[in-house]
Order: sequence, then C-alpha cells, then structure tokens
Amino acid sequence: MDTVVSGIRSTGNLHLGNYFGALKNFLRMQEENHCYFFVADYHSLTTHPHPDDLHGNIRQVLAEYLASGIDPEKATIYIQSDVPEVTELYLLLNMNAYVGELERTTSFKEKIRKQPDNINAGLLTYPVLMAADIIIHRAHKVPVGKDQEQHLEMTRRFARRFNMMYGMDYFPEPDAYNFGRQLLKIPGLDGTGKMGKSEGNGVFLADMPADIRKKVMRAVTDTGPAKPGSEPSEAVKNLFTIMEAVSDPSTISFFREKHASCEIRYGDMKKQLAEDIIKVTEPIRVRINEIKNDPVYLHRVVSEGADKARASASKTIREVREIIGYKPF
Ligand code: TRP
Repeated sequence: MDTVVSGIRSTGNLHLGNYFGALKNFLRMQEENHCYFFVADYHSLTTHPHPDDLHGNIRQVLAEYLASGIDPEKATIYIQSDVPEVTELYLLLNMNAYVGELERTTSFKEKIRKQPDNINAGLLTYPVLMAADIIIHRAHKVPVGKDQEQHLEMTRRFARRFNMMYGMDYFPEPDAYNFGRQLLKIPGLDGTGKMGKSEGNGVFLADMPADIRKKVMRAVTDTGPAKPGSEPSEAVKNLFTIMEAVSDPSTISFFREKHASCEIRYGDMKKQLAEDIIKVTEPIRVRINEIKNDPVYLHRVVSEGADKARASASKTIREVREIIGYKPF
C-alpha cells in the first residue's frame, strides 16, 4: 500500500475549489492507501494570525475535513503542530537546503511582491517545512493542485539530496498525484482566474444558501453570445466549468445548447447553478456546524490522529538521527 500525505493551510474557510481540487481526491485516496491528512497550522504562521483566531482557524479546517467525508477510521487526521517531530526534520533538512534555490521559488517571489513588509525566514523556508511534512511519513504520493508542483519538485530534491549525502535509499521521492481528469480547477465568480480564499470570488462550504444565491447571481457574465455557435467568453466558460462539477449532464447540455442558439438567459443559468451548488454544499455545511459543536468528538479525532502521526514520525526521526551519525551515550 502506498503512503499518501497532504495538508491544507488553516488560513480561512474552504471553498469549492478546495473541495473539488483537493478534498474529493483525498476521499478517493483514503479507500486504498495509507493516508495522512493534516491541518498545516505552522504554515499559517507565516502571515501572523492573531492569537485569538489561531485555534478557531484550525478547528474550522478540521471540521471541514471531517464534514467532507475524510474518515478518521480510514485516514490519519492530525494537526501539524501536534507532531513536533516535523520541526526536527525541518531543521535537519534546512542544513541541506540552499538559500539560492529557496529564493528562486515562485511562491516566495510572489510573497515578496504581495507582502513586502513581512518577508520572514519562514516564508523562505516554507518549501523545506512542506518537504518535512511529506517525507516524515516517507510518503509516495501527495494529492495537491497544480500550484504546488514546484514545492513537490523541491521535496523530491531534498529527499534525493539526503539519500545521496548518506549513501542510502532512505526517503522515497514522492510524486504529486491526482485521479487524472477528476481534478477540476474551479474558477472564481469574478470572470478571471481560479477560486481563492481571499480573492472575494469564492463559494465556501460553510456559506448559507442565501449567500450562495447572492454570490452566484452577482457572478460576472457578458452581454450574450454574438452569433449562433460562438465560443463562450472567459467569464461564462468559468460558470460552465463550475456547472461541470456540480450539475447533472442534462442540465449542462441544456444550457450549452441555449448558449449555442443564442437563447441563453444568464439569470436562469445562474439560478440553476446556485441550486446545484447548494445541493453539494448544504449537507456539508450542516455537518460542519454539528462537528464544530461536538468538542468530545473533535478531541478524540485530534488526539488519536496525533498519536498515530507521531508514531510514524518518531520512527523516521529515530532512523534519520542514526543515519546522520547520532549515537546514544
Ligand atoms: N503548501 C500547501 C498549500 O498551500 C499546504 C501544505 C503544507 C501541504 N504542507 C503540505 C500540502 C504537505 C501537501 C503536503 O496548499
């Protein structure tokens, strides 16, 4: 059985993009692999969350994992900061990570642009911490979106470098993984780009139906197809892409044909789209709230998850220390 690791940063509520891009993949993977899914709360510290918010942010993602169907009986679910072994591996890997390569990382360069007054060393070494998350369980597969490909490449490089340095095939080189066409990139409602947590273009799993209706009705479209059979504009194409994820094939072809024959009424399409989104999100939203109000269950999931994750992580740390040359006195 392959070992699978993935995490989501606790920096805000999860949206449809996270659900169709990541969580749906996690659900499939937990059936046939040895899975570790965690809440990446150390990673969230790079943007300095307020202490009053930190715990709630972690609890939210945890509840969203569970409400989406990630099953603690099938996968190990844990909070990153409950497994301090990760930080030890991070320190050890940092000794073989070069400042030059870290500075050249796309995500780092983007952060420099976006938050020039908070370019902390945690941002620079973000890919090292992510590599530690993954190889601490000696994972083979990592279900992540396309935006994480470079980080995965760096993880493979750090694993390979460790193996070379000590002349051992200790860490497998993990691959980014998804179920091919299953992995949909969900666009936002603002006409351009992908759905994001903070772009103001997202539908969140925790959104109330009324808010979803409002958001979808306000989504950007265009003035209508110019002539029969014309290609939808970017904004309208995006709405069709979301439809592909949530609606019946017959609904999708109905609106595609209406578009092709220039008879489409975007208002009708949006109404239908909102209802189909709600069909997916509403049961999850209800579950999120039930789970958030069940501290006994949450405590059990988190403590059992931490125990299982630490058992795996501490075995790796023990072996890594030995490989590096530490000996008991
Ligand atoms: N960097 C990932 C993201 O922003 C989150 C993450 C942290 C992660 N550690 C990981 C993903 C390990 C997969 C495996 O989405």
